[in-house]
Amino acid sequence: MEHGALTTRAIAPEEYEDFARVGYTAFLEHPSAEEMEADRPFMEFNRTRAGFIGERMAGTSAVLSLQMTIPGGTRLPLAGVTWIGVRPEFTRRGILSRLMKEQLLDAVEHGEALAGLWASESRIYGRFGFAPATHIMGLRVETRDAHPLQPLRDTGRVRLAEKAEVTELLPRLYERHGRQLPGEVSRPRGFWTAWLADVERHRGGASRLFHAVHEDQAGEADGYVSFRMVYEETSGLANNEVKLVELVGAHATVRRALWRFCLGLDLVRVVSWDTAPADFAYRWDLADPRRLVVNDLHDGLWLRILSIPAALAGRRYQGGGELVLEASDHFLGSAGGRFLLACHGSAAACTRTRRRPMLHMDVAALSAAYLGGVSFTTLAEAGWVEERVPGALDLADTLFSTPRPPYCTTLF
Ligand SMILES: CC(C)(COP(=O)(O)OP(=O)(O)OC[C@H]1O[C@@H](n2cnc3c(N)ncnc32)[C@H](O)[C@@H]1OP(=O)(O)O)[C@@H](O)C(=O)NCCC(=O)NCCS
Repeated sequence: MEHGALTTRAIAPEEYEDFARVGYTAFLEHPSAEEMEADRPFMEFNRTRAGFIGERMAGTSAVLSLQMTIPGGTRLPLAGVTWIGVRPEFTRRGILSRLMKEQLLDAVEHGEALAGLWASESRIYGRFGFAPATHIMGLRVETRDAHPLQPLRDTGRVRLAEKAEVTELLPRLYERHGRQLPGEVSRPRGFWTAWLADVERHRGGASRLFHAVHEDQAGEADGYVSFRMVYEETSGLANNEVKLVELVGAHATVRRALWRFCLGLDLVRVVSWDTAPADFAYRWDLADPRRLVVNDLHDGLWLRILSIPAALAGRRYQGGGELVLEASDHFLGSAGGRFLLACHGSAAACTRTRRRPMLHMDVAALSAAYLGGVSFTTLAEAGWVEERVPGALDLADTLFSTPRPPYCTTLF
């Protein structure tokens, strides 16, 4: 084992290869030159932080400057934490803890009220104040029995997109229509190039991506669905599977038309979606809803509130009322304290207070509930929230409730 003190610093652009190799090695992966190049445009070098043992780079971290849609439709700056990795021979000696603390303090300096990430394992990030704030569902539908139930009054049409048009079309449609639900984030620089490059290791054994576009009556594109195919044939019968990857539309009719397009494809026996929204709406559009099989439900984006006043004042609430929340912040300290959330009509203010707390929790619990993905009552049931004044849970649940659960499709 190598010895030496741990030092940390941002890397220079010419150190990118070394950084990427350490990041991939943490996952015990051998990246191809093509994969490493596809990742390069994501880097904001001044927001990288690597850990060194002696001269040797041992751990990596980076932050992307993103924006997240929050309840009410406003967008707040989000520190998108990524590239977390420590070489296997240097794990469990505090490298991640140090890099994370420095990245989060830097995000506070940048004025970001929120940090978010996707976790490779769900045991890693709770200690840093992160909690699952969005969930994704894995499902499959046998198309043979998936007869639609509800009328669809769509005056538009769906067509397969040409390869040449998607580079311009998809980012534009995503930006316009794909970021409506709380939890969704802006796509980092380089995201679309990497996504549309569609390298083999992202395909999971399925085909390259297909994209179908929805156009309104005037021929204007207003939604798309991206999917892959898995080809299978048994005794001369086609048993193909459509693996839905992303579905974006200007409004419910467009989105449902795109879903139905997938269900209606010839030679297809199953439509599956590994990252569907947790309240998957189209179960209500099946004459025989048991044909929908849910095989997975797990955490999506993990959120960490860095400034409670800025985060809470930024979103909108249901109804009115005053709530005094006390939050502890064991990891950073700076986000904790006692806060008065005052909601009147569509305006909300959140300030430090000395009033008696009505609810007590860790900043991770508040981060879990912030986008409306879980109620305070559920969190209290699990021991995450303590009700100090009777009725406070009900009030908090009403204020923070949202019409639909938050959803994030952008992996970074
Ligand atoms: C996850 C990873 C970055 C952790 O780095 P590390 O430098 O070992 O983390 P630390 O030493 O700072 O660990 C801090 C604490 O978290 C715990 N911890 C860290 N990683 C953990 C894991 N994967 N499972 C369980 N506990 C873990 C440590 O045991 C330690 O606990 P303690 O304070 O009670 O002793 C590293 O194990 C790694 O690179 N894993 C493979 C790649 C990966 O999954 N990256 C994350 C991408 S989202």
